Amino acid sequence: MLKTDFKTYIKDKNIELYKEKIINIKNTLNAGGEMLDWYDIDKCISQSDLNKIKDISKDIQENCELFIVIGIGGSFLGAKAIISALNPYFKNKKPEIIFAGNSLSETYLTELIEYMEDKDTIVNVISKSGTTLEPSIAFDIIYNKMQEKYNQDELKRRIIITTDPEKGILRKLANDNNYPSFIVPEQIGGRYSVLTAVGLLPIAVAGIDIDKLLLGARQVNNDSAFEYAIIRDILYRQGKTVELFTFYEPKLEYFIEWLKQLFGETQGKDKKGILPSSSNNTRDLHSLGQFYQEGTPIIFETIIGIDKKGTLKSNLYNYSIEDINMIALKQVAYAHLDAGVESNVIMIDKLDEINLGMLIYYFETAAATGAYLLDVNPFDQPGVSAYKKLIEKELKK
Ligand code: PA5
Repeated sequence: MLKTDFKTYIKDKNIELYKEKIINIKNTLNAGGEMLDWYDIDKCISQSDLNKIKDISKDIQENCELFIVIGIGGSFLGAKAIISALNPYFKNKKPEIIFAGNSLSETYLTELIEYMEDKDTIVNVISKSGTTLEPSIAFDIIYNKMQEKYNQDELKRRIIITTDPEKGILRKLANDNNYPSFIVPEQIGGRYSVLTAVGLLPIAVAGIDIDKLLLGARQVNNDSAFEYAIIRDILYRQGKTVELFTFYEPKLEYFIEWLKQLFGETQGKDKKGILPSSSNNTRDLHSLGQFYQEGTPIIFETIIGIDKKGTLKSNLYNYSIEDINMIALKQVAYAHLDAGVESNVIMIDKLDEINLGMLIYYFETAAATGAYLLDVNPFDQPGVSAYKKLIEKELKK
């Protein structure tokens, strides 16, 4: 269940003015076409690839200790988001899932290579282009280690490649060596790819029900996502240039990182866009709460809450900790509203596959809609190549 509240902590907004625009955006999304395949869940993954993911992930769960997922940006955050949200805080599950290739930390890779030494390991390298700096370096180092540890036959089940259907160095590697492989659909960009094999394989390895995730995505009421996109747009035009994605359950930390990428890369271009930021509450209320309440008035919030009954009580209060968390969520929103910081509320009733699938599709729809409202292309990221070119130039010296 996904419930929204765009009234209690939001001042009146005239969303009627957007009627025409939204009709056009709906038509664009429904028509499909360039980079829009994520909007049709059937185009995210074929039934045969879904079955293949289930078979391979079962084999990985039963036969390996360490599953290394190499990727960055859209080839990393979606899987990390769902796995962190649904895994227990403290119980170690088998296999251990470790992400790599999302930094240039030599220390991390050195320690990982050491850690792999005595562990039965399977690697999933994910890169649509196959050329991204961080995962390329990580894969090179880890692949060398795998070749040291295992013979060619063994590698045929231990190196799994997720990449472009036709092009690139990783597709060639998969073809040349008969490594199992999956496709990143051509018409789906990285940050919209969590419900493709990019996200679904690692998520399935973590023991999470990917059918339910996809089912959740299919249940979204798009009209609510359009309404949220309109309210963000109005707030932006009123000078609110920072959106704080506020959450009260730390398991959502990486989901919010995924959201930040989704909105940041989709909308931040042509000198326009809302800067996505995040607040891990109540922790961050004790470090940034002062700014939210009284600092430069550029912020609005989108609270992602979980409205469920709790059972654990301390001796201090007659409320469960969940209840206290919900009281905090509401009273903080009221206090912020008093200071002119408005909040959208998007609430689920529990952290599960269906609700997370809904949230993914809901926010993807809202992010793309927001970009259309700003008159920018939702699916490119020209700004990212600027720094990449400079790094490449230095590396060629
Ligand atoms: O959303 C995007 O397109 C990017 O964040 C990419 O996912 C990221 O740069 C990784 O690209 P690739 O999968 O080509 O390695």
